[in-house]
Amino acid sequence: MVQFSPILKKSYWVLAGLGITWAVFMVALLNPWIQSHALYAHKINTGFWYNVSNPEQFGFAKGQVTPFSLNTTDGETLYCWHVLPYDVYLEHEDEIVQKAVTHTEDFKASVAHKLLRKDSESRVVINFHGNAGHVADGFRTHTYRSVAGIPKTHLLTCDYRGFGYSTLRNAPHLPTEPGLITDGISMISYVLQTLSHPSDRTVLLGQSLGTAVTTASALYFTDPSTSNLPKTITAPSPIPKTPQAFAGIVLVAPFPSLPILLQSYKIKGFFPILSPLKGYPKIRAFFENRIVDQWPTLLRLQALLTSAAKSRVHISILHARNDQEISFQLSEAMYSSLETSVLSMEGATASQERRTIHGGERVRRGAFVYRKVEDGDAATGKGKSVELEVVRFGGHNEVVGFSQVGLAVRRAFEHGGRFMPGLDVE
Ligand SMILES: *[C@@H]1O[C@H](CO)[C@@H](O)[C@H](O)[C@H]1NC(C)=O
Ligand SMILES: *[C@@H]1O[C@H](CO)[C@@H](O)[C@H](O)[C@H]1NC(C)=O
Repeated sequence: MVQFSPILKKSYWVLAGLGITWAVFMVALLNPWIQSHALYAHKINTGFWYNVSNPEQFGFAKGQVTPFSLNTTDGETLYCWHVLPYDVYLEHEDEIVQKAVTHTEDFKASVAHKLLRKDSESRVVINFHGNAGHVADGFRTHTYRSVAGIPKTHLLTCDYRGFGYSTLRNAPHLPTEPGLITDGISMISYVLQTLSHPSDRTVLLGQSLGTAVTTASALYFTDPSTSNLPKTITAPSPIPKTPQAFAGIVLVAPFPSLPILLQSYKIKGFFPILSPLKGYPKIRAFFENRIVDQWPTLLRLQALLTSAAKSRVHISILHARNDQEISFQLSEAMYSSLETSVLSMEGATASQERRTIHGGERVRRGAFVYRKVEDGDAATGKGKSVELEVVRFGGHNEVVGFSQVGLAVRRAFEHGGRFMPGLDVE
């Protein structure tokens, strides 16, 4: 028998241990309850030593955040935050501080709502966070402050059912794809119908899993009868007018679908899911067929672009090159596919810019790329446009609070798209 040196022996056992851990994990994932907890991670909260009902703990000015309850169309109650922009805050500071609330059942009775309604140029960003945690977890609050710096721009964000303080009353008492889409539709319907805020002054912003919720919800407001959404979502009442033309849809670190994501995804950039099965297509298909929630975002974006005849669809995709969880190459692939769709429309043009001082052979694919495609109507603000920006820093989570995302939101509000990002040079 071959004699292994002790160090080789040790690494052999470490590898074998990792392999067994992975195999046990994969078998466990076949259980839908475990699968839901692994995907949504709604029970994982890194911030419960903070008090989410006290936004000052997260660095907000007194009264700048109004925590409130929002009822979904199927009877869940979501825990939400409304964040005031700095310009509005400064102008009304005394009143805001005096009337600050820790939580309200009726946002419409709040000072924040009064200030949103008062200005006919108010804008709203509806924010859809990623999996795990709650509205104020991690870098999420950086995003809110970045958006608060945009003039007249209010932000609304909610925890999905089962996350944070949001309820989980409906069977199966787990977050699900139809459930989260119902939450997303309810949030948008709340802004457009309950608050009577127009969609052309509304930007939808999602990160990671939130991009899947954003896209599905946006598609509902474009084509509610589409076959690309689950049949079990509960419609808002009254049925919204469609199609709704949002100022923009900003997707940060998206993925084409969950099965495609899992082929390359590594938990925390380390622990693989389906990639060890690359050479075993039959076993991989076995697992892929058992993914309960497929989240086919690319398909839904295609449907969004083609179903909204003569109305504005502006999609911005941002992805950090150093994202260790979801590769920026997935965004590049999504963009390419969307570009092909838009190029088949009348008068469409595409452009791209790449920046690096390495040049030629040494240009890594996707280095600081900006690509854009728009149809002939885009210049009037009523056409279709899709842009991709691969940014250099920010990883998977931190990037959402970075300036590039705030700038993409600003560009979206500027109908007609006069602006181009300034790209970083390596
Ligand atoms: C959280 O903060 C709110 C507002 O300051 C306060 O009313 C509530 O008691 C706090 N909760 C806990 C558990 O400290
Ligand atoms: C939301 O739903 C809860 C529980 O069903 C109910 O008590 C509350 O009155 C509802 N709020 C609004 C604003 O409709």
